[in-house]
Amino acid sequence: MNKLEPMKVKKITCIGAGYVGGPTMAVIADNCPEIIVTIVDIDENRINAWKYNPINELPIYEPKLGEIIERVRNKNLFFSTDISESIANADMVFLAVNTPTKTKGIGSGQASDLSMLESCSREVAKCSRGHTIVVEKSTVPVRTAEVIKKILDANLKKEDSSNPQQTFSVISNPEFLAEGTAISDLNNPDRVLIGGDNELAIESLADIYSHWVDRSKIIKTNLWSSELSKLTSNAFLAQRISSINSVAEICEVTGANIKEVSKAIGLDNRIGKKFLNSGPGFGGSCFQKDILNLVYLCEYFGLTRVARYWQSVIELNDWQQERISKLITENLLGNISSKFILILGFAFKANTNDTRESSAIQISLNLLEEGANLLIHDPQVNSKQISLDLRIEETTSLSPDTNYNNKDKGKWKYVNNLSNSFSQVDAVVILTEWEEYKLIDWKKVTKKMRKPAWVFDTRLLLEEKNITDAGLNYWSVGNGR
Ligand code: NAD
Ligand code: UGA
Repeated sequence: MNKLEPMKVKKITCIGAGYVGGPTMAVIADNCPEIIVTIVDIDENRINAWKYNPINELPIYEPKLGEIIERVRNKNLFFSTDISESIANADMVFLAVNTPTKTKGIGSGQASDLSMLESCSREVAKCSRGHTIVVEKSTVPVRTAEVIKKILDANLKKEDSSNPQQTFSVISNPEFLAEGTAISDLNNPDRVLIGGDNELAIESLADIYSHWVDRSKIIKTNLWSSELSKLTSNAFLAQRISSINSVAEICEVTGANIKEVSKAIGLDNRIGKKFLNSGPGFGGSCFQKDILNLVYLCEYFGLTRVARYWQSVIELNDWQQERISKLITENLLGNISSKFILILGFAFKANTNDTRESSAIQISLNLLEEGANLLIHDPQVNSKQISLDLRIEETTSLSPDTNYNNKDKGKWKYVNNLSNSFSQVDAVVILTEWEEYKLIDWKKVTKKMRKPAWVFDTRLLLEEKNITDAGLNYWSVGNGR
């Protein structure tokens, strides 16, 4: 490599074949046909699914991803479990492994568990050859790049006849894609952020993005600004949702309407209309984890008031799930034990099969705790995933035609066929905004439901008139009377 020019990257390895690694690398491969991209993972099943499954059965469901995979798989995008070999061959290694909240030890319940990031940094130290640009793609606490650098520097191997001298540049390139819109977010990002202290390494990555992203959108910062911008971007987005959900509750008691209020607020250019949809509370693998991480960081630096401010965003989110569960029970005559409730949607948002931290989990658990029997439908989430999330086995024999007298918790059953699932149910609860739920013919299904029957619309998905004209009671979030 010419020391004064950025390295022309020919081979990329991405560690982590998940919701970030898969789509991100597919889009790089698609836009940069001259670069060989390999995604590696310790999860053999996941790698095999990426490698061999038909494009409509990829390990993650993401609109438009299949067509890209079809174009690039085995051309310049490869999947492998041979992590060491793939690192050895790469000029640039992306670290896109998970960084979940710690569940034990110091910072348990708040700090990020960086053990997976540490273990792949050690793998890079062990296997890389010559100069390697290490790109921190995972979302991490501020100053994590320092940890990666320490691991790499402490394990530098000396040059010998078979190995060129190892050198590293560590840069931060956080990912801003949202699930369900990942491909359009990646192909047309608002910005690409690259943080680092090595101008040439930053330029090498900027060159890759400039294949399809306008240079003016590629922002360069120092490492710590880049890491902090990612955490705080998520915190800002989540804060907007908690804010609008708090306003929804005010609407419900004052006679205001959240759709109208949200529109009025959002039309102010300084505020903007995005991320002002009230709902059952935010879910997903990142918002809660990243805010907890931010709270931990603030507490670590003694910023108690700031920590408390961000903590309140999570508290409001928990409250939204709790209050929705409570008002379902209250409206169903104060008792849901042994009643049948049809849950529509289990994914944390539409157009994904991801259920991590989905509000549907906590709301379903609250209803089961009150003794309700749940029929659960989601077009992309399977029954196995729901059992894992609820930590309760499915009762496949559960039927509204049988009389139950639940003395303890309720039971749940997976619903495959939506049209057959309304029979004798007392309520329908919409928890994910899947388009297909808009097509339900309420005049038809009302005949099957047990009266008085309710529809609870936590996503403002339905037209109230369609429900009430069908003789059903309707509650929607933020709809004051
Ligand atoms: P994921 O769980 O879907 O994927 C992570 C993958 O890393 C898993 O397949 C796991 O097996 C693999 N892995 C873990 N340790 C490994 C190791 N030592 N060697 C090889 N593979 C290993 O996670 P994700 O949703 O893709 O998130 C990854 C990171 O990106 C997180 O830090 C997250 O906060 C961040 N992020 C996620 C999103 C999103 O929408 N999911 C968006 C932006 C940023
Ligand atoms: C979010 C961010 O939007 C991404 O920029 C970020 O890269 C990503 O987290 C991450 O770091 O993981 P994601 O969680 O995939 O993306 O999806 P969002 O569209 O942000 O939705 C998150 C949750 O908020 C969902 O439960 C969604 O239903 C809810 N939401 C979103 C609302 O309740 N109201 C809204 O107006 C918007």
